[in-house]
Amino acid sequence: MGKLKLGVLISGRGSNLQALINACREPAFPAEIVLVISNRADAGGLARAEAVGIATKVIPHAQFPDREAFDMALDESLRGAEVGLVCLAGFMRLLSAGFAERWRDRLINIHPSLLPAFKGLDAHAQALAAGVRLSGCTVHYVTPAMDAGPIIVQAAVPVTPDDDEASLAARILDAEHVCYPLAVRLIAEGRVRVSEGRAVIAGGGPCGPALINPRA
Ligand code: GRF
Repeated sequence: MGKLKLGVLISGRGSNLQALINACREPAFPAEIVLVISNRADAGGLARAEAVGIATKVIPHAQFPDREAFDMALDESLRGAEVGLVCLAGFMRLLSAGFAERWRDRLINIHPSLLPAFKGLDAHAQALAAGVRLSGCTVHYVTPAMDAGPIIVQAAVPVTPDDDEASLAARILDAEHVCYPLAVRLIAEGRVRVSEGRAVIAGGGPCGPALINPRA
């Protein structure tokens, strides 16, 4: 069977894109990146793709009259590249309901919190303001409602008393770089099924014991 073809959508530095590039370099990894699209010409992630010969495309959202027209252009490029799974990786545009429906169960995102807690833009600040002892990241399917689709993979990290947004973001980002390739692999292996709004993972055993913070 051929590899699952990924289209990765970015707006910025692209460290999650890099994690996917690194994973795809492994010969046994069941997916390959065929196209990287950015809505910003200055996204640092574009150079990461170009450095390894992955096709890139800039589709500036400001050049379109509305969200639907922009999303149609995205859709056309993704279909042109025969993409089978779209991975949002720091893509800072909300997608239209029509796009989410067209790519239903073939569109995933990574978010820097343990959803459904702390949806939206400032997830790290929200976690710090709430005083939670654990936060983390979530890879989930994208549905028309923001940050609310079926959860595929989560990782928890501790929040320490002296954390600020930058230190918490860095700790979560390390976990993101493990979780995103894992989610893609599970999907590419055909082990993820969406049933009644939840993602069911075939053969997914439980992880280690509980992460308890503080330790005392
Ligand atoms: C990550 O924290 C991701 O969870 C969020 O946007 C950030 C993107 O970072 N959606 P990068 O561009 O992948 O480095």
